Amino acid sequence: MPVLEVRSLRKVYSLDEEGIPTVEALRDINLIVNRGEFISIIGPSGCGKSTLFGIIGGLNESTSGQVLIKGEAVQGPHPSIGMVFQEESAFPWLTSLENVEFGLKMDGVSKKERRPKAKEMIELVGLSGFENHYPGELSGGMRQRVAIARTLVMNPEIILMDEPFGALDEQTRLILGEELLRICERIRATILFITHSISESVILSDRVYVMSGRPGTFRKIIDIDIPKPRSSSTISTKRFGEITDEIWKELKEETTKAMRITA
Ligand SMILES: Nc1ncnc2c1ncn2[C@@H]1O[C@H](COP(=O)(O)OP(=O)(O)OP(=O)(O)O)[C@@H](O)[C@H]1O
Ligand SMILES: [Mg+2]
Repeated sequence: MPVLEVRSLRKVYSLDEEGIPTVEALRDINLIVNRGEFISIIGPSGCGKSTLFGIIGGLNESTSGQVLIKGEAVQGPHPSIGMVFQEESAFPWLTSLENVEFGLKMDGVSKKERRPKAKEMIELVGLSGFENHYPGELSGGMRQRVAIARTLVMNPEIILMDEPFGALDEQTRLILGEELLRICERIRATILFITHSISESVILSDRVYVMSGRPGTFRKIIDIDIPKPRSSSTISTKRFGEITDEIWKELKEETTKAMRITA
């Protein structure tokens, strides 16, 4: 059974006085994700990617359609799902360690039990030595690692990551992407990953879903047949170039259309 399934999902944000949809964010979204897969979603700005994650994560309601986790319909936030948001989300008044153990604390896990788990996650994301630093004392990349560790420590089966490296420079993204792959292999989680970077999507994913402009729907699904393990050096392979070209062709058309509509 797929770990996650989305069936005929539609989201309309608002209706005018005649009941005609004014912002149709998503239309006919279908998705099947198996355990352990890494799926990337790429599409023009405003095409409904964050909306889709909000609905899968149970934070936003769909207009019609279904989200199933291990065959069960999602009614609200689900313990199997962890989210890393598009905007920075580490609490500035808590240290790295306190940020990472926050969810466990809220779940009533004792300090004795949660501390070692949080420390293990801090180590996994390469932040050992920065446990007692506040987010304001960390770099942007380090803050995102805190946010990732905070999600991982809850041991979710499915992790939704909305442009987790969006604010970072290309080199840092590549390195963090490599680390993310290593972590994913170790914890065997299923990842859905939104990105605007074609190369990032190709290096990280088993499949890339290219979305159309609003109303967002999956325009093309591309299997990434580059052998694993991959690393930043995958970029220099011929196959990487071919797949990147294919995605860009799809995306270019949609982005141009989306820009014309906005203008
Ligand atoms: N709470 C809301 N109420 C009304 N409209 C919304 C709301 N949230 C998003 N929208 C609209 O839905 C559409 C999709 O927004 P969404 O944030 O899902 O896009 P996105 O693909 O994540 O974009 P980006 O790549 O820029 O993050 C946009 O037109 C946006 O204005
Ligand atoms: Mg978004």
